[in-house]
Amino acid sequence: MESFERVSTGIPKLDQMLGGGLLKGRTYLVTGETGVGKTILSLQFLLDGLKKGERCIYVSLDERIEGVLRGALSLGWDFWEHIESGLFYPFEFRLFAEDLRRFGKESKAFVNALEKIAHGKAINRIVLDPISALAAGAREELVIREYLREIVNAVEERFGATTMLTCDIPTGSNKLSRFGFEEFLSSGVIVLGIMRFYGKLLKTMYVRKMRWSKADPSIYIFEIRPLEGIVVLEPLSEKVDESMLSKI
Ligand SMILES: Nc1ncnc2c1ncn2[C@@H]1O[C@H](COP(=O)(O)OP(=O)(O)OP(=O)(O)O)[C@@H](O)[C@H]1O
Ligand SMILES: [Mg+2]
Repeated sequence: MESFERVSTGIPKLDQMLGGGLLKGRTYLVTGETGVGKTILSLQFLLDGLKKGERCIYVSLDERIEGVLRGALSLGWDFWEHIESGLFYPFEFRLFAEDLRRFGKESKAFVNALEKIAHGKAINRIVLDPISALAAGAREELVIREYLREIVNAVEERFGATTMLTCDIPTGSNKLSRFGFEEFLSSGVIVLGIMRFYGKLLKTMYVRKMRWSKADPSIYIFEIRPLEGIVVLEPLSEKVDESMLSKI
């Protein structure tokens, strides 16, 4: 029996891997090393909502928003038309280490800022990209943890939106997230990776955790293509088997 309402990621194969899509109103983490495609995946998720007439907020926490939107245009994705139609609210937010203590006590200020952007209208999808930048510069883990937890809780309670957080992890690390606790705040974790394979770089994707769903345990290969964005291809194991066979 299906008891949850599902929301598409905008990537049909990833929806399948997640057991039917994201659970509506929950928070998800997209994690991976730099340049692997986290921002693109999160924009694809918003684009899917925008095409369905949903209201979406994108918060850029490290890059200039113009840069992100222009980058998306290189894939053929025009977000400006959705700004004009009043559905898309891109937003840039920089937080400096000195502010973090203050915000740690009143992280609701961040959520209030989001609420202001939405002008009190219902919001269906939110992306915070990357959430690790929110806590950059803070030394005390407890402050970061409380700060991020309050943001995630408040966003879930006040907006009821399906939220995607991206998180960059240091290159070559085996960690799932930057601080090691972001995954516990989320209902699911999607891990993007890059690996070397016969002198080429392969992009990989798998679902590390998915609450209340039977997730696909395989690691898949994906590509980033114009217009389509992220396209999930065959499981990594098939690629490896193929290359073994070709050697025989
Ligand atoms: N127009 C394009 N066509 C094909 N691939 C692209 C295009 N633009 C970007 N890419 C691919 O997407 C990758 C960058 O994706 P993205 O910006 O989503 O990564 P990221 O994980 O958010 O990185 P960061 O942690 O630095 O923010 C590039 O490394 C490149 O391989
Ligand atoms: Mg990015």
